[in-house]
Amino acid sequence: MSKSFDVVVIGGGPGGYIAAIRAAQLGLATACIDEWRGADGKPALGGTCTNVGCIPSKALLQSSENFHHAAHGFADHGIQVKGIGLDLAQMLKRKDRVVRQNNDGIVYLFKKNKVAFFHGRGGFAGGSAGAWQVKVAGGAEEAITARNVIVATGSSPRPLPGAAFDGKLVLDNAGALALPEVPRRLGVIGAGVIGLEMGSVWRRLGAEVTMLEMLDAFLPAADEAVAKEAWKIFTREQGLKIQLGANIARVTPGKKAVAVEYSIKGGGEHKLECDRLIVSIGRVPHTEGLNADAAGLKLDARGFVEVDAECRTNLPGVWAIGDVVRGPMLAHKAEEEGVAVAERVAGHHGHVDFNTIPWVIYTAPEIAWVGRTEQQLKSEGVPCRSGQFPFMANGRARALGDTRGFVKFVADAQTDRILGVHIIGPMASELISEAVVAMEFGASAEDIALICHAHPSLAEAMKEAALAVAGRSLNS
Ligand code: FAD
Ligand code: NAI
Repeated sequence: MSKSFDVVVIGGGPGGYIAAIRAAQLGLATACIDEWRGADGKPALGGTCTNVGCIPSKALLQSSENFHHAAHGFADHGIQVKGIGLDLAQMLKRKDRVVRQNNDGIVYLFKKNKVAFFHGRGGFAGGSAGAWQVKVAGGAEEAITARNVIVATGSSPRPLPGAAFDGKLVLDNAGALALPEVPRRLGVIGAGVIGLEMGSVWRRLGAEVTMLEMLDAFLPAADEAVAKEAWKIFTREQGLKIQLGANIARVTPGKKAVAVEYSIKGGGEHKLECDRLIVSIGRVPHTEGLNADAAGLKLDARGFVEVDAECRTNLPGVWAIGDVVRGPMLAHKAEEEGVAVAERVAGHHGHVDFNTIPWVIYTAPEIAWVGRTEQQLKSEGVPCRSGQFPFMANGRARALGDTRGFVKFVADAQTDRILGVHIIGPMASELISEAVVAMEFGASAEDIALICHAHPSLAEAMKEAALAVAGRSLNS
């Protein structure tokens, strides 16, 4: 007999598992179906983010940074470390342990909140408004009836035509996080977020990293001043080789190495030989196995599940959230949509503010921003003023020994309302929260400038940049 629920969530990534928890908290009988298996073969809740995305990448970014500091940063602090060695197997083991802790944490949360979990692939199997039928296959074999279905099936890496991922030489994000040895020559196609984060990890561990980027501009989504500073630090100081305007002609995997042939506009034909190649050219929505066609679930031209501003699909009672729908492919965006949909199903008001979703790139130094860039505002004809403060002039950054980068505030020229905040520097991922809060509350740059910030702290750079909007920064 079919089990019956108020809400069935298909996909247990950050969008899906959070939606399930919130729905259960709101008193709805809730189930979550997820098909992921960890490297150990066991069910592994948390989706891309927990298994092969946010969490393992940050574990390796931290480990590789520690390695780099021990080798290059400690001497300046008067700490002598001799005989530094790399135990990559241990580094990967630690990363896997961090992932497993997060997988198990979600299992615990499901139990605590009484979310029923089914391991396997969930697909539509008939029904209609008020009573959708969902079949679980390939793990738990179950037939489920649901009043509401939340599709949270995420995304998959986009392959480069003619260069299929093989898990050995041509790698996607999962492969890039599990290299058993540091390649001597690492090629990366796509100098976006994954390329920069994973390129940094392997560069710090000793690889010679060459990135081939199709666009002529570096990090075009970031504020130009931030992108320029990042380019300087990544290429000159850290030795990442980044070739912009590269048009990939052919990728030929050999027995032990890969050849990438490419051309540069006005710069002729080139060939890159590398021992491993990461392809990070964006991600595509994942709807395989959902049986969307048969159910009549509408997808858009690019394969995303089509939704309205409130995540409703064309089918009554069927919702979709996270990477499988329009908008930025970020874990926190997926989570916010998950909560908002659970609230709407329970008859409350769900809300996601797309104008204040922060972006973070976890390179060293980190890059973070919220709101619009100065260039965007200018092109939209919005009169604005900006203020910038360098970490070089911040006491805490000097004490830390990390004075690279700056904070930049952009505010409306008439009202002083904050329209964007752009940071490159230490702990940018944490500092950006202040800007998100400020923008959510409609703050002016002067509001931040008038708030007392602890001394010495990196956050003082936020206050100083806000002061700089009115040309009255105190420490620079
Ligand atoms: P997913 O996390 O992809 O989860 C979908 C789940 O659904 C998966 O478990 C999948 O197996 C399951 N599934 C799919 N179809 C079915 C089906 N039919 N039946 C059952 N289960 C199914 N974002 C950030 O915000 N910060 C970061 O630092 C960050 N780092 C990243 C690093 C990397 C290397 C990558 C690849 C991504 C990173 N992201 C980061 C992006 C982030 O991982 C995604 O935005 C996020 O995981 C999307 O969540 P989701 O719930 O929509 O989908
Ligand atoms: P991306 O969109 O960030 O970058 C892809 C890059 O590849 C772009 O610069 C693009 O111009 C380039 N490109 C596309 N086709 C190309 C081609 N044929 N040849 C050469 N270059 C090409 O996508 P990425 O890095 O794959 O990451 C996917 C998504 O995952 C991100 O957009 C982001 O949403 C999410 N993510 C978020 C992270 C974070 O929040 N810190 C970390 C990693 C991923």
